[in-house]
Amino acid sequence: MILKNFIVFEGIDGAGTSTQIKKLTAIDPINFVATSEPTAGATGKFLRQMLSGDFKVDEKTSAYLFAADRCEHIFGRGGVKELIDSGKIVISDRYFFSSLAYQSISCGEELPRLLNSPFPLPEILFYFEIDPEISLARVNARNEKKEIYEKLELQKKIAAQYEIVIKEYEKKSQETGIKIVRIDATDSIENISNTIKKYFR
Ligand code: TMP
Repeated sequence: MILKNFIVFEGIDGAGTSTQIKKLTAIDPINFVATSEPTAGATGKFLRQMLSGDFKVDEKTSAYLFAADRCEHIFGRGGVKELIDSGKIVISDRYFFSSLAYQSISCGEELPRLLNSPFPLPEILFYFEIDPEISLARVNARNEKKEIYEKLELQKKIAAQYEIVIKEYEKKSQETGIKIVRIDATDSIENISNTIKKYFR
């Protein structure tokens, strides 16, 4: 099922999705609402601690946690469904495609697929394509503490898994109705922004 007016941005770490979401929502701050996963809620905060390396959980546990956080994000009070029902256009930095890419590397494809099968599809998915060497250099340039997945070998595997997942959704896009837009994330911020804006006129 497609959730109309739900837009998702995906890509490996450092692909530039957050910058573009800021630019897009600035066009119409009343009607566009930006959200993200992990969320700012309790499960999302717990996940951030896990991502920063404060503690370790089994990789299967992280798949469950990301899915639980997603459930609140979509169906919880003040969540995506409520926002859309009140007439907003919701733009999310990451969604279940992240779980199908990241968690599949560590705990296999089966569990992330199972846990994420109940979630609706976004109307548009912008997938940011970038060489992991370039994106990780951007992450390093931020001079912030690295999160657990921000390692080159891992990012290469995640990028390859994203490609498998995106191709699969592209193949069935006729029947599901999802629109998938591939973005060259090495292009300039302005060019990318102009490309994205065209889908909202
Ligand atoms: P970000 O907000 O900086 O993109 O960081 C979120 C990190 O969490 C990023 O490394 C991707 C990871 N992640 C997963 O592994 N699975 C998920 O389902 C989601 C939403 C994020």
